[in-house]
Amino acid sequence: MTTITKLSARVSRMLEEVLQGLKEPQKSLPSKYFYDKRGSELFEQICELDEYYPTRTELSIMRDNIDEITDQLGSKIQLIELGSGSSLKTRLLLDHLPEINSYVPVDISNDFLADVVENLQREYPLLDIIPVAADYTKPFDLPEADLDARRVAYYPGSTIGNFTKEKAADFIALLADLLGDNGGLLIGFDLLKDRDTLINAYDDAKGVTAKFNKNILRRINRELAADFDVDSFEHRAFFNEEKSRIEMHLVSQKDQQVDIMGTVIHFSKGETIHTENSHKYSLESFREITAPHFQPQKTWTDKKEMFTVQFLTK
Ligand code: AVI
Repeated sequence: MTTITKLSARVSRMLEEVLQGLKEPQKSLPSKYFYDKRGSELFEQICELDEYYPTRTELSIMRDNIDEITDQLGSKIQLIELGSGSSLKTRLLLDHLPEINSYVPVDISNDFLADVVENLQREYPLLDIIPVAADYTKPFDLPEADLDARRVAYYPGSTIGNFTKEKAADFIALLADLLGDNGGLLIGFDLLKDRDTLINAYDDAKGVTAKFNKNILRRINRELAADFDVDSFEHRAFFNEEKSRIEMHLVSQKDQQVDIMGTVIHFSKGETIHTENSHKYSLESFREITAPHFQPQKTWTDKKEMFTVQFLTK
């Protein structure tokens, strides 16, 4: 039996995806692999940074407009939160939706969901919480909702920005299918702004984002028995004007090769691994990806117009 056949399905999928990206002319890695335990901790630290404005701006938009936002959603709803749960924003919504029919946190990780349910149920003993373990970027089934309850998906955090524009449009189409005829979507997305603010948000002075970016190599070393010399890669973030997105890369500081479970990948000095895109939208460009399926009902933003929370219906 070869080593490959002994790998778990999860590890072989990761190996396949990692090698596929590293064999392309522009090497890349799937950004979902940032989020192991250490990566998730680093991301939480990013959210606290002075330079990283999206998290606190989105929360302040929610706080400032919560009555109007929950009025828009309607009272009797099934609230479906994609890929998160248990955040301050979730609690803010739940506190203002006393007649909610059910709350459905959707996440790929069963362990994460178990924590969310345990914590929220303690705080909201009467809330009907129905966790769904699924990769929400692929079609999945929702639990039954009362006939008169409207399904509303909640997708905060500007996570939509991490999809390419094409994938974001496909994802919006998938949500439209999932939510049924009178479905709604409450979504947070980051707005296009001056280049310096954007770059500083992804290349902070304390180097937390650099650690977050490099952690993906540490994870691959650990989980795929690879031998990346992590210190010989440097973090780089730049704004790709044409695609309206921040790109994060890891730049090889020397000619080198890396062994990943027997596959050798060569790097020239200066060559990069593209690790993440974070798209920045205008209201118009966001409309391009949502218009085939949803109509915006109401848009909230902060005074400086850094970030937007929008409610859309089908
Ligand atoms: C999760 N996502 C919305 C973050 C972003 O801003 O694109 C991930 C991130 N990458 C570096 N800093 C934050």
